Amino acid sequence: MGMEKVILPKSLEGKTVLVAGAAGFVPSHVCELYVGLGAKVIGLDNFVTGTEANLTGLKSNSLFDFRECNIFESLPSFSGENIDYIFSLASPASPVDFSKIPMDIMRVNSEGTRFLLELAKEKKARFLEASTSEVYGDPEVHPQTEDYVGHVNPIGPRACYDEGKRFAEAMCTVYKNFHGVETRIVRIFNTYGPRMRPDDGRVIPNFINQAMNDQDISVYGDGSQTRSFCFVTDLVQAMHYVMHSPVDTPVNIGNPDEYTILEAAKFIIDVMGSNSKITHLPLPKDDPKKRRPDITKLQSFSDYVPQVGFREGLLETVEFFKSCV
Ligand SMILES: NC(=O)c1ccc[n+]([C@@H]2O[C@H](COP(=O)([O-])OP(=O)(O)OC[C@H]3O[C@@H](n4cnc5c(N)ncnc54)[C@H](O)[C@@H]3O)[C@@H](O)[C@H]2O)c1
Repeated sequence: MGMEKVILPKSLEGKTVLVAGAAGFVPSHVCELYVGLGAKVIGLDNFVTGTEANLTGLKSNSLFDFRECNIFESLPSFSGENIDYIFSLASPASPVDFSKIPMDIMRVNSEGTRFLLELAKEKKARFLEASTSEVYGDPEVHPQTEDYVGHVNPIGPRACYDEGKRFAEAMCTVYKNFHGVETRIVRIFNTYGPRMRPDDGRVIPNFINQAMNDQDISVYGDGSQTRSFCFVTDLVQAMHYVMHSPVDTPVNIGNPDEYTILEAAKFIIDVMGSNSKITHLPLPKDDPKKRRPDITKLQSFSDYVPQVGFREGLLETVEFFKSCV
């Protein structure tokens, strides 16, 4: 027998949601979902990787309240305020950040997350940590289900992020077991969509930038390696399900639709009507052959089904990238 399915609230009027990292790509969409449901949303950010522009729509909404701060130094005072839900989403996440700002990444996932968990304890708020598929490291099993404990190099170039998130998961679990905080953990797989940083260094922004400028699209190896991409609004819906579920152990979230890199490149050229050609470059060491989330656990307790297909999602992302130029 399966688990009972989560029933999502129709409205969150009268509730307060705190979103750490509000000016970022995924978090700004989380803020939009919750103001749309009538909740008051308090956003925190220090703009280390997020932008004011990501808040433009939100700032005109009276339910949105922004407070600039660096969450690993201190949080603003919330004295006299209720908080019902906390989303811990403040962390630089792009590979380009790992060598530039590793200290920020380690501190926000440790000290920053601890400040947020203390606040959750004080306010009796439900807490959701945005962890990552990177906690699986360079996995020895495919696909990764949540009980796989990972294969991570603690001193490798990605360690600041991978181990930072593993520490955040560990700390959530300790706050749950020792302080009774209601914690939720999502492990996010590749996500794309509007407000993604155009210089983020990942495959979709790279291909779109190249196609937009009619430059050759660089595919590593023969392009038969596969990736799965989740459109941001689908990802946020999955986070919403987990937040409102009773499941307090980690849950993979993403879109299991799988494409080869070569298919993705051709798709982008086609969607954009670009004149770009495809060139093949040597395959980097450790480039994974396959990456695809196993979302069986998420679907065991929710009606989650990704709604946005790759073509439609790419079109929206391309529109956004064009508006940034
Ligand atoms: N985008 C993905 O594919 C992906 C995959 C796995 C996990 N995640 C996780 O989801 C969350 C959001 O990721 P994103 O891709 O939207 O990244 P993002 O960089 O766009 O958003 C993170 C936001 O947090 C803010 N921030 C960082 N450190 C801060 C600090 N010390 N104080 C206050 N604000 C701070 C940044 O300025 C930014 O606005 C992160 O926790 C990330 O690790 C994202």
